[in-house]
Amino acid sequence: MVYRKINVVGDYVSLSKAAAEFIVEAIQKKIGCVLGLPTGKTPMGMYRHLTELIKADNIDISTVTTFNLDEYIGLGPEDEGSFHAFMEKHLFSQSNFLKSNIHLLNGLAPDLKAECARYEEEIREAGGIDLQVVGIGVNGHIGFNEPGSDFNSGARVVKLTEATRRINSKEFKESAQVPLTAVTMGLRNIMDARQILLIAGGNEKSLALAKALQGPVTEEVPASILQTHDNLIVMLDKSAATLLKIR
Ligand code: PGA
Repeated sequence: MVYRKINVVGDYVSLSKAAAEFIVEAIQKKIGCVLGLPTGKTPMGMYRHLTELIKADNIDISTVTTFNLDEYIGLGPEDEGSFHAFMEKHLFSQSNFLKSNIHLLNGLAPDLKAECARYEEEIREAGGIDLQVVGIGVNGHIGFNEPGSDFNSGARVVKLTEATRRINSKEFKESAQVPLTAVTMGLRNIMDARQILLIAGGNEKSLALAKALQGPVTEEVPASILQTHDNLIVMLDKSAATLLKIR
């Protein structure tokens, strides 16, 4: 039953704190914990609290490995709009994760197919992902797996929908600068994680969440595949949960 796994935690600050605490628990539970990490508006608060907790409680992250979900094609760490730059700003520059343990897809790789294969191999070599944190798009995407993505998809090049480009244009000076394509972990890669934490806040996510968590499992709503994961934790603020049936 999906109902029991949904935690409604009040407002955005509570959501961010709860998610950060959950990550710290995962880190403390397993030496060499492998995290899958998202970017976007939603996890900003989570990363702020996570860096605070790491500092305040002196959490040992020297053996933690991270893999990011996705990256724009054509953007590198020097580009402000890249997810690499986002991660540097919100997490990596604020904490002492070992550089060699940080993994991101390279949106500047000359051979993107090889880049995706390399990434999957690195995840395998790390022993798989222990905790994958994901947000959700208003269209039900996770990572950059847009509606229609194959549930069995691996890491690959994808075309972004116009809706996604419009929403993400806030991070760019002009909307035309938002790349048309991206590299993303596939839905199979996400589902392969031993545990998944889905976080979402705000009213604009409520319909996508109702469809993803309590509607039919369909490739038209990529996040609906999460219903079939046997270790899914959902953390929402009150406004994101308004359309869910929760007992
Ligand atoms: P957001 O993005 O956190 O910026 O809303 C979530 C997503 O698109 O996965």
